[in-house]
Amino acid sequence: QAFFRPISRAAPPSPTKRHNKISVIGVGNVGMAIAQTILTQDLADELVLVDAKPEKLRGEMLDLQHAAAFLPRTKIHASVDYAITVGSDLCIVTAGARQNPGESRLNLLQRNVALFRNIIPPLAKYSPDTILLIVSNPVDVLTYVAWKLSGFPSNRVFGSGTNLDSSRFRFLMADHLDVNAQDVQAYIIGEHGDSSVALWSSISVGGVPVLSFLEKQQIAYEKETLEKIHKAVVDCAYEVISLKGYTSWAIGYSVANLARSILRDQRKVQPVSVLANGFYGVGGGDVFLSLPAQLGRSGVLGVTNVHLTDEEAQKLRDSAHTILEVQSQLNL
Ligand code: NAI
Ligand code: LAC
Repeated sequence: QAFFRPISRAAPPSPTKRHNKISVIGVGNVGMAIAQTILTQDLADELVLVDAKPEKLRGEMLDLQHAAAFLPRTKIHASVDYAITVGSDLCIVTAGARQNPGESRLNLLQRNVALFRNIIPPLAKYSPDTILLIVSNPVDVLTYVAWKLSGFPSNRVFGSGTNLDSSRFRFLMADHLDVNAQDVQAYIIGEHGDSSVALWSSISVGGVPVLSFLEKQQIAYEKETLEKIHKAVVDCAYEVISLKGYTSWAIGYSVANLARSILRDQRKVQPVSVLANGFYGVGGGDVFLSLPAQLGRSGVLGVTNVHLTDEEAQKLRDSAHTILEVQSQLNL
């Protein structure tokens, strides 16, 4: 006996809303911040959690399920068996070692590549049409590794990249100028890490290019000031890791924001780690690094042709060189 008695004999309308299934691999600080934000923002009909630690995995699943009365209805389940990810629309990979205080992201490479050899193939097997969103560090190199191991076209494999760095930059600029961070249009591109590049020439505040905004407001700035602000962005993660041991909340919102762009076909332009060969003279091998890219239901729809000064383009090529040097240690 159904719990509810039908009030009419009419057949229920066929569901028109597409079913969104997201799998989050790794239920640590980052994976759970992402999962919690996905639920709060009602981005999925089905949320799957995978990890190597069965008890932690079950604990996180139950803890999220117990919030059901306060959240939009979402089917939440978990397993150490990747079969549970079958048919995922989006797979978000956060599994892996994280930096110790003072450690660079690139130092994590060997440990996390080894994990990816066991994570990426089953994800690709169970969801051959999925989009892979890589978060684990070093995210640019691991996005390249995921692309190679999955055999997917490059539009369906991207990394969270400098979407987080750009958010930090927008916060610092907004704080400096006493404006809303959402009115600061700014891209950090290149490596998600120490060699990232701030696109000062295209940053605008409320539609006004920032350099002329500063001039109009008679806010003195020297090149050193701008470089100090960019260095503060690079130092953000090291500072937070030294204080709380890891970063999680900002990356949680950053990745949920990317998931929305994909699953809701937002066609938003966001700085994410994409296959960058050929853009702005980047060459010397297949390399993923962040460029402003349009995101939609089929993944990376394209890279925008944002203007870079010669200096910015050279810094981007230097960033690519850094990543390629590290990548050359791999034998995939
Ligand atoms: P964590 O240690 O809290 O969580 C890592 C999780 O991965 C653990 O639950 C562990 O059991 C799981 N895991 C390990 N091997 C696995 C495997 N073979 N299969 C499935 N799960 C496995 O670490 P946290 O803080 O969540 O960081 C995770 C990763 O995210 C790190 O590499 C970190 O550097 C990266 N990260 C990236 C950011 C970005 O902007 N791209 C920002 C913040 C963190
Ligand atoms: C960050 C590091 C952990 O928070 O990738 O930027």
